[in-house]
Amino acid sequence: MGITVGNKVVLVGTGAVGSSYVYALMNQGLCDELVLVDVNQEKAKGDAMDLNHGVVYAPSTMTIKYGSYEDCQDAAIVVISAGAAQKPGETRLDLVSKNMKIFESIVGDVMKSGFNGIFLVATNPADILAYATWKFSGLPKERVIGSGTILDSARLRFLLGKEFNTAPTSVHAYIIGEHGDSQFPVWSAANISGVSIASRLTDERREELAVEVRDAAYKIIESKGATFYGIAMGLARITKAILKNEQVALPVGVLLEGEYGHQNVYIGTPAVIDRSGVKNIVELDLDDVEKEKFNRSVDTLKGIQAHYWK
Ligand code: LAC
Repeated sequence: MGITVGNKVVLVGTGAVGSSYVYALMNQGLCDELVLVDVNQEKAKGDAMDLNHGVVYAPSTMTIKYGSYEDCQDAAIVVISAGAAQKPGETRLDLVSKNMKIFESIVGDVMKSGFNGIFLVATNPADILAYATWKFSGLPKERVIGSGTILDSARLRFLLGKEFNTAPTSVHAYIIGEHGDSQFPVWSAANISGVSIASRLTDERREELAVEVRDAAYKIIESKGATFYGIAMGLARITKAILKNEQVALPVGVLLEGEYGHQNVYIGTPAVIDRSGVKNIVELDLDDVEKEKFNRSVDTLKGIQAHYWK
């Protein structure tokens, strides 16, 4: 049976990230059918009603309702943002055991519906939970995508845009590795309109920027308790790439099977995204320092993974 067609999206988890994501979908007119699922059905119901009152001002019409896992049967994409959120001072990896149990239940219920589309995993730790979704679902790896470093890369591009007074859309730079403390910028590939950035920054300034990106979430959580707008825009970007069959390279969480010399781990790296999910992984040419950092990031993730899968 071929992959599900149509533009139906089901969101599981209408917390701050999930509701910001669907608000972005509506504002960008990215799907024509949206179903909200949450263990707190009253919240999902309220969000559906609230969003429906904005559809008239959206760029295109869409049906929005709250529902249940049965609604995943004919969904093109199921986005999971349900789970415990990071607390002040807590790392993303601290969330694993809480969210692993939640995910086993959610993914099992989605698959019981006969779902045959693409999972997009946003709950932290997103790399570990994308791997878990792939294992629990039994879907082919290209149809389980983690949010990866889509947000971290956006943070880097924003900061470099400010640094060089340039629109972030003209800044081409990636954060790769864990969506977490072992992430790092690929300075060797960073450029503005094709002009290398690395040589225009001192080592010290490069390190300052890398730390500012890495610690951004902690600072936002300290200030407002959670982060949700930036990640929501990143999830909407990935959704658009899938539904519009864009074949665009985005830094998302993908399963490595030999790329960068590693396998059996979900981690952030550029990958070409289209209607099939992950069309192919873009293996960046890393320098020796970057290779070492990537290996360390893989080891961090595999160290956690090993507690759950022997
Ligand atoms: C952050 C969350 C989404 O980095 O992990 O803001």
